[in-house]
Amino acid sequence: MKYEKIQAPKGVREYLPPESTAFEWVREQLISPARLAGYQLMELPVFEDTNLFSRGVGESTDVVSKEMYTFEDRGGRSITLRPEGTAGVMRAVIEQNLDRGQLPVKVWYSGQYFRAERPQAGRYRQFYQVGIEAIGLDDPAIDAEVIAIAYQGFKNIGLKNFTLQITSLGDAPSRAGHREDLMKFYQTLNLDEATAARAQLNPLRLFDDKRPEMVAAMAKAPLLLDYLSPEAKDNFEKVQGYLKAMNIEFTINPRMVRGLDYYTGTTFEFVHSDLGAQSGIGGGGRYDGLMEILGGQPLSGIGFGLGVDRALLAAVAEGVLPSDSFTSDLFIIPLGESAKSSALTIASQLRNSGITTEIAFGDRALKGAMKAADKSGARFVIVLGESELQAGTVELKRMDDGAVNSVKIEQLQGELRSQLSVQRK
Ligand code: HAM
Repeated sequence: MKYEKIQAPKGVREYLPPESTAFEWVREQLISPARLAGYQLMELPVFEDTNLFSRGVGESTDVVSKEMYTFEDRGGRSITLRPEGTAGVMRAVIEQNLDRGQLPVKVWYSGQYFRAERPQAGRYRQFYQVGIEAIGLDDPAIDAEVIAIAYQGFKNIGLKNFTLQITSLGDAPSRAGHREDLMKFYQTLNLDEATAARAQLNPLRLFDDKRPEMVAAMAKAPLLLDYLSPEAKDNFEKVQGYLKAMNIEFTINPRMVRGLDYYTGTTFEFVHSDLGAQSGIGGGGRYDGLMEILGGQPLSGIGFGLGVDRALLAAVAEGVLPSDSFTSDLFIIPLGESAKSSALTIASQLRNSGITTEIAFGDRALKGAMKAADKSGARFVIVLGESELQAGTVELKRMDDGAVNSVKIEQLQGELRSQLSVQRK
């Protein structure tokens, strides 16, 4: 009987070698600025009580109304695969009482998120994010710091073709005044039932409506930025001042609407120009009421989520992936049984000192093993046979120009270190 092959579910993104090494590198570039700013890892479940998202992310959003992977578990509980990270962090902070300790709580996370969107380039049903959250501090300086951390992540990758857009959704009085006028404006538009219902849940949502007639109608809609209270205005100006002081360029986009309902105050998005329709490489903002509606104290927070898949696509589009860091430093070809055992010992020592070392196992003939070494892209190769072991010396071959020099086995580590540091300069 011949079995049929099984395919991955539609729209998921998976990373296999050699692409996975580039993915890992991109993810690390995005994480490292958060670590350097004192954010600590939070590792959370990928599934949660469905209420967490319907209440936290908001019923007006596409994410909750159309895109959640929701199912009943064996105990009859409604479970949802996390579509985003912030609500889960809030749940954990409240449940584990982190909000009763030192504030702000500063955490980073990375992992898979799930949204049943229509798949296309850069838009997947399982995708990867790196995110941070800073909870319990109301200070425009931390807004600027959070934006700067995301910005630095993209800079670490070497990206250039992206812009930062910011806006402010103000404080409660700003939003109340704006809402009143916006709802009046909607009454002049003759909205269909579904759109009117969406506007009721979150009046800002219609700024995100892509239908041409709605885009045209919304061109005249009152903008929240014109309704900022003096405090909210002052706050937003301070954020801009801090960004300027850090030489972070930005544009103000008063029509920006984030896809999730919890945002208040400073909000932002990073947009890359080489990615077509799925140009958002990251975004975030303040969410001052979220903790309270999830049953916690009324603490404010701010954070971001960066799309690792899209950051990788952007890095490929800009040609900034460092091609040489994904290959081994040394490839050892052992000839014979005792050479195999020595190769294992030598490789362990070299690896312990940070030199990536591969061994050609499988008793292949020298020619085939050399071919494999060449293919692997390793920077150096040694052949380890009886005579080398007896002499205690190997021929260290540099693969880019074929140069060979004799090196004592015990000096291999030092020799490789110095040659590699010259190469990497
Ligand atoms: P978000 O804007 O929904 O925010 O997602 C953040 C980033 O995840 C997007 O900018 C995009 O790069 C990536 N992304 C979203 N959906 C997909 C998809 N289907 N395929 C590929 N990439 C995708 C949030 O999730 C918020 N939790 C961010 C946040 C944290 N706000 C405050 N704290």
